[in-house]
Amino acid sequence: MHDPLLATSPIESLYQQRLANPDRGQIEALQGLEWTSHNIALSSDCTTFAGRPHTRMDDEPRTRTIAETLRLMASRQGSLAGLRLLDLGCLEGGLSLEMARRGAEVVGVEGRQANFDKCQALQRYFALPNLEFLHLDVRRLDAETHGRFDIVLCCGLLYHLSEPFMFLRRLRTLIEDAGLLFVDTHVAPEDDAAVAACRLGDKLSSLEVLPSGGVDYPGRWFDEFATERGAEHPWDSISNPKSFWPTHQALRRALYQSRFDYLVDVYGTFDPDREQTLRREFSRVYCAATMRQLRD
Ligand SMILES: C[S@@+](CC[C@H](N)C(=O)[O-])C[C@H]1O[C@@H](n2cnc3c(N)ncnc32)[C@H](O)[C@@H]1O
Repeated sequence: MHDPLLATSPIESLYQQRLANPDRGQIEALQGLEWTSHNIALSSDCTTFAGRPHTRMDDEPRTRTIAETLRLMASRQGSLAGLRLLDLGCLEGGLSLEMARRGAEVVGVEGRQANFDKCQALQRYFALPNLEFLHLDVRRLDAETHGRFDIVLCCGLLYHLSEPFMFLRRLRTLIEDAGLLFVDTHVAPEDDAAVAACRLGDKLSSLEVLPSGGVDYPGRWFDEFATERGAEHPWDSISNPKSFWPTHQALRRALYQSRFDYLVDVYGTFDPDREQTLRREFSRVYCAATMRQLRD
């Protein structure tokens, strides 16, 4: 599939050179790590998943949706070159790598050591000049230390926080005025029927209100550690045993309160019927938000 951002990126040729000239010793070491989600190509015939079936990161429909959204809403003259991109809770680094291939200056932030180790191994293997990882709780990011970003990817992260609204306000300070925030998140089902249709519904509380910054936000508490998987599951929250999922409307309101007042609901990752079913089953949404310069 043609991807205009890859076609114009000088970094892509470095990435392809690595795939064409693999380091077998490093591949063996990488494959020895425990990959749980990001199946990343390491050569023409090897990936991090070492033969276990799993969609490859570069083929993932979500990767393409994010790239297309960035092309339409953030790229300058069809390129991400020179744009700083922050990937929050980057897990095994696959999405960060995909965005670095497309030319952005990427900082992936991961709070769990075992995941961060995989990110670093990936960084060493590809040695792209525009890709770095930080081992840090995302709640500790601040503009003074880490600078500001043109693009922030908040994928699979917001619903792991107990104070998501406070975090969105903090994100506002980390993003340039003309920047873009992409959010991929669960939202709280609105009613009992929606809870019953949601695969994670049994871990959700009844509808409650979380006050934050002078606004009451409806949502549901999600039990992070209440299962036998325990606190060290690689995809869970870092320290909070419960996270707060806002309703879709509460998320929109919180984005607006944080000055992300131009909001695009992103569809097109799957065919419309499948997409609708998945949204219901996982109570999940994708959206892209910017700060319009027009508001008084
Ligand atoms: C569900 S995974 C999402 C991974 C990735 N962003 C993606 O969409 O493929 C959540 C990730 O966020 C990390 N995480 C959760 N809470 C965090 C926090 N407060 N600070 C940094 N990382 C966090 C977890 O360790 C995990 O790697």
